[in-house]
Amino acid sequence: MPMEKTFAIIKPDACSRGIAGQVLAKIEENGFQVIAMKKLRMTKKQAEGFYAVHRGKPFFSSLTDFMSSGPCIVLVLQKENAIAAWRKLMGATNPANAEPGTIRKEFAQSMEANSVHGSDAPDTASYEIAYFFSALELCV
Ligand code: CDP
Ligand code: MG
Repeated sequence: MPMEKTFAIIKPDACSRGIAGQVLAKIEENGFQVIAMKKLRMTKKQAEGFYAVHRGKPFFSSLTDFMSSGPCIVLVLQKENAIAAWRKLMGATNPANAEPGTIRKEFAQSMEANSVHGSDAPDTASYEIAYFFSALELCV
């Protein structure tokens, strides 16, 4: 199976609680290669652009406030079948429905403050990686 790249965020709730290292440890323990990583704080407009697919939904305004409320860590992960594998390790969007052993089950505080983001398909992975990283920043 070919290597695949996906895009991940350790969201502001996890960074502000000082558990980004624990999330990163899970990423590495599960065989993902971190091929790019940086810490940044999105502006409201940048968060709106990132989540453009959700514009108009009832949670959009609160979500983009939350995502711009403090620093986050953005990453590019590589593994076989990385997109699906990272979604599985994250767990369900609502932590109440997340499987034991998933990051959201262990760390998420709420449906919104759910600690991590992951791309859901190859086209969104490409868009999201390019939103934060240039090709020169990916170190395979
Ligand atoms: O992040 P994921 O792909 O699992 O879920 P999404 O449906 O793409 O929604 C993006 C993010 O919006 C979620 O991770 C939550 O932080 C937030 N959200 C929310 O606050 N309330 C909802 N009803 C749905 C999503
Ligand atoms: Mg999503």
